[in-house]
Amino acid sequence: MSDATRSDRAQRLLAASARSEVPPFMVMDVMAAADRIEAEGGHVIHMEVGQPWAPAPRSALAAAHRALDEARIDYTSALGIPSLRARIARHYRDTYGCAVDPARIVVTTGSSGAFILSFLALFEPGDRVAVTVPGYPPYRHILNALGCEVVPIETHSDTRHALTGEMLLAAHRKAPLKGVLIASPANPTGTMMTRAALSELIAVAESEGIRFISDEIYHGLDYAFPAVTAAELSANAVVINSFSKYFCMTGWRVGWMVVPDTLVRPIERLQQNLAISVPTLSQIAAEAAFDGAAEMEAVKHGYEENRRILIEGLPRAGLTDFLPADGAFYLYADVSRFTSDSYQFTKQLLAEAHVAATPGTDFDPHRGKDFVRFSYARSADDMREAVSRISKWLAGKSAQR
Ligand SMILES: Cc1ncc(COP(=O)(O)O)c(C=O)c1O
Repeated sequence: MSDATRSDRAQRLLAASARSEVPPFMVMDVMAAADRIEAEGGHVIHMEVGQPWAPAPRSALAAAHRALDEARIDYTSALGIPSLRARIARHYRDTYGCAVDPARIVVTTGSSGAFILSFLALFEPGDRVAVTVPGYPPYRHILNALGCEVVPIETHSDTRHALTGEMLLAAHRKAPLKGVLIASPANPTGTMMTRAALSELIAVAESEGIRFISDEIYHGLDYAFPAVTAAELSANAVVINSFSKYFCMTGWRVGWMVVPDTLVRPIERLQQNLAISVPTLSQIAAEAAFDGAAEMEAVKHGYEENRRILIEGLPRAGLTDFLPADGAFYLYADVSRFTSDSYQFTKQLLAEAHVAATPGTDFDPHRGKDFVRFSYARSADDMREAVSRISKWLAGKSAQR
């Protein structure tokens, strides 16, 4: 064999699969750049990452400590610790007045793990699945990696970024959809769907045989009106939630799904094979987190104050064009007055004003060049400082023009 053939074969052995060619999550690149500034002694205001500043509630930490001292940390059943599944079911009764059978609850490694399990259980390779744009990028990237065809449906600020039944039908008429995924409150816009809008969308999807997935990770962080769970509106919807945001437990990697009866066993088999079970210590802590409601509500009130500071302060700083978010901890601002390249804009904002934010292109590959997402999951002092830095920086930019 010639050297050239050998090297060609070696290249092919080392090549990654086409399905693994997913784009990077840009917010991670911004975080890395911010880390470099901080390593050199700079003080960065972090508005890039959607991560609560507060730690897990004390009840969760205490339960984890106790478990480490007293118990073996073994595998659990693939669907999760039974008492945690029952506690999650109770959460539906207490929060939404909605009865959910604990048998339909699946504990997952964050909502990220739930996406993989639900997409595998619901879709075949080649199936067309609609997602809203702007939207959380991993929806598109995971679906692509699993061989599904992503059908992006653009939403607009005049409908507060809600997907309507009419928009879904229009996409379905072009070529049939197998599924649709929405989030309310949404990332990056922070907008929410009303009960009427969500009911209408689910009814349209189900009447057309389109499987409905509702990402409810920002439930609990609702300021404008109470968020409505799809679990209350349909027993056929797949509901995904997580302990990462309201419960302040990002790094514990624990979340859950409410799935239709028929999907419980397929998802159990998938989880057995893919992960065996979700980390036991995290499940124990998650169950106890439900007892930390007072702490979590205090954190939520902090976000409300942050939201007020930004809604009042950003327009004074020069950023006037954004929707006053209903929930989550994001504002999605139109920066097209200043740039046609939000990536460069956030790079400069970080380098020159030490404020880290995420370019809209992460959430919307086309129109995102005009937008920046600001996360307000940090302290009120950070938010005031951010407004002041952005204000000075934009004033300097305008003066240069
Ligand atoms: C809309 C949305 N869904 C899901 C996730 C993933 O969260 P996790 O896997 O930590 O539950 C995030 C994280 O930021 C998100 O914004």
